[in-house]
Amino acid sequence: MSFDAWSHAHRARIETALSRFLPGDELRSGELCEAMRYSVLGGGKRLRALLSYAAAEAINAKAAIADHAAAAVEMIHAYSLIHDDLPCMDNDDMRRGKPTNHVKFGEATAMLAGDALQPLAFRVVLDAAQSGASANGIVAATRLLADASGAFGMAGGQAIDLANVGKPMTQDALEEMHALKTGAMFKAAVVLPALLSEAPDPRIAALEVFAQNIGLAFQVVDDVLDATADSETLGKTAGKDAQNEKPTFVSLMGIDAAHTYARALTRNAIAALEGSDMPCSRLIEVAFAMADRKS
Ligand code: IPE
Ligand code: IPE
Ligand code: MG
Ligand code: MG
Ligand code: MG
Repeated sequence: MSFDAWSHAHRARIETALSRFLPGDELRSGELCEAMRYSVLGGGKRLRALLSYAAAEAINAKAAIADHAAAAVEMIHAYSLIHDDLPCMDNDDMRRGKPTNHVKFGEATAMLAGDALQPLAFRVVLDAAQSGASANGIVAATRLLADASGAFGMAGGQAIDLANVGKPMTQDALEEMHALKTGAMFKAAVVLPALLSEAPDPRIAALEVFAQNIGLAFQVVDDVLDATADSETLGKTAGKDAQNEKPTFVSLMGIDAAHTYARALTRNAIAALEGSDMPCSRLIEVAFAMADRKS
């Protein structure tokens, strides 16, 4: 199957899985459910989900187990975007080509939608038992997702981002910030299917190195696109980083060097898989699609 056909099919698959795991209109807190569904469904490139499905293929795990990994990561990611866009953080009014959650539903509901998506993601990991994941696998996956989303991961990176507005950062400090705020959730996307299926340690180790490199590359490209693409293509307001005086790879080294660096990271990611005994062609295709993306 071509990569285009494969990614199209798996984007449809994650949409169905997410819709099934999200609350519908059965709850009394109807507006909260609507706000959750608004930010999770029908948008986004779904790169993290594609990585979960590609990783599952590499380790020969069931796609039904990958549904849980992919949906949990996309839910935490959507929550992180809702909060990232709030006036107290990046103050953005457009996301995925639509008004941001707080613009549509108000700040209080947007906060709660993020709050509610986070525990739901953990519930989805626990429910991987229904698709055949082992108890040991679920414990390991839960721990990784907790680290990736909390103070040792995304939330910690976001705090460093906010604390450094208007300040110059060294490359090492910027790499650490990007690894936490973005890389950690990419690592979760790639490694969760392997943990849930109790893949052998050497395979998990190779997937971790791959994920760390593509995760960092991803945020470097995000920084470049913020400075080079237009808002319509991005589906979010371009030029926000400079406007908000964010420390980025573009402010550190300029557009061309940042782009070159992202390509080097992508090569490192692929090299990490080359020595392994896994069939990694889909993972490599997703890595190239991430590096070459225009939005
Ligand atoms: C945006 O991520 C936030 C960052 C971590 C840079 P994506 O560019 O993957 O956002 P969607 O999911 O496609 O909207
Ligand atoms: C946010 O990084 C990363 C998150 C954890 C949400 P950015 O602030 O650069 O993401 P965008 O550019 O708004 O999507
Ligand atoms: Mg931000
Ligand atoms: Mg932002
Ligand atoms: Mg950005």
